[in-house]
Amino acid sequence: MVDLLLGLQWGDEGKGKIVDVLTKEYDIIARFQGGPNAGHTLEFDGIKHVLHTIPSGIFHKNAINVVGNGVVIDPVIFKKELDNLEKFNIDIETKLFISRKAHLILPTHRLLDAASEASKGKAKIGSTLKGIGPTYMDKTGRNGMRVGDLEFDDWKTKYRALADKHEAMIDFYNVEIQYNLDELEAEFCEGVETLKKLTFIDSEEYIFKAQAEGKKILAEGAQGSLLDIDFGTYPFVTSSNTTAAGACTGLGVAPNNIKNVLGIFKAYTTRVGSGPFPTELFDEDGATMAKVGNEFGATTGRPRRCGWLDLVALKYAVQINGVTELMMMKADVLSGFDTIKVCTAYQYKGEEIQHLPYSIEEEYVTPVYTEMKGWSEDLTKLSKAEDLPATLNDYIAFLEEQLNVPIKIVSVGPDRLQTIHR
Ligand code: IMP
Repeated sequence: MVDLLLGLQWGDEGKGKIVDVLTKEYDIIARFQGGPNAGHTLEFDGIKHVLHTIPSGIFHKNAINVVGNGVVIDPVIFKKELDNLEKFNIDIETKLFISRKAHLILPTHRLLDAASEASKGKAKIGSTLKGIGPTYMDKTGRNGMRVGDLEFDDWKTKYRALADKHEAMIDFYNVEIQYNLDELEAEFCEGVETLKKLTFIDSEEYIFKAQAEGKKILAEGAQGSLLDIDFGTYPFVTSSNTTAAGACTGLGVAPNNIKNVLGIFKAYTTRVGSGPFPTELFDEDGATMAKVGNEFGATTGRPRRCGWLDLVALKYAVQINGVTELMMMKADVLSGFDTIKVCTAYQYKGEEIQHLPYSIEEEYVTPVYTEMKGWSEDLTKLSKAEDLPATLNDYIAFLEEQLNVPIKIVSVGPDRLQTIHR
């Protein structure tokens, strides 16, 4: 049986925290797409951990963690993640398995990302510059290098051919980028040597057997539905399918084996990088959300753009993913607002619509808001649903009614313990 856990907005919803909270109920936690562009933050015992490629179940003894075929791996970043885990005495070889079919991010993929972004000027995507786009381009272009290639003696020949091609492509962009490829390659080879010490598996076979044995699997999504390559705000998206179907292709799970789809959203909205964001705030309210919510990218440190909850976009994500349970994060950040606004429709070409149109650029779309009374109580010490303020309960009830899906968890702070089950 496989459950999915997905971000429903533009990423940074708090997936890492919830996976960590839920891991005790699962045997396997598996990442199925994205790569080190993700920054999954977990907090417990007063320590904050940020994971980029390693699944968020790694701190629990009961679970095996799998990096699936749909993920792209940068050996350099992977090594750093492993180094950070060293002091926690985790038996990595038996707790973390890597799919042979996962693609590798080469140093030149990162350079290509930088060159592509520089060449776009103002139209840049706002990429995390981790080489994600170029790596998936090589995957779909059938030129990529995979983890399994590292088990063959000729991997360096393959590497050289691909890196040389990339260098010629970087020249094509005709932009200034400073780099020392020898240094980057030395670092890459060191990362590869570390990666090779891990356990490589045919992950689809492993997941298939685990299902046959009745194991409980949680597929951990990265980024969010509005960054999906097909259904997101293209071209300001990432290069993988962040939505439910991505778990089928990124792990080899058959659609009829998926049971619960857990959708995570913030009580408001954030976005990092470029692209349309209809409910974005440029006023004091937005600044308060950013400050109280500590809205800075876990991977790049960039400030996140903030705005009110966009129910039109959220409904779309619930539909695309077939969400069965919702989890609302960062409810504590909205404490203190007299009025909370929720976007329930868009003004679009002179009419009011309730679905996501082809383009949600601000010249086409104006949000229509419903206003609700806010709450002033500090939520961060609460642990029981009965203690939630009445106006927050009204907010939750309104969202449940609009989305037609129950909100099962309300998160009131970054720590594992600041999690209210309903
Ligand atoms: P890329 O995937 O690094 O190329 O970035 C493409 C877009 O997705 C940019 O707007 C990034 O800011 C955004 N993005 C990528 N990964 C994440 C994430 O984990 N959280 C939030 N935004 C992300």
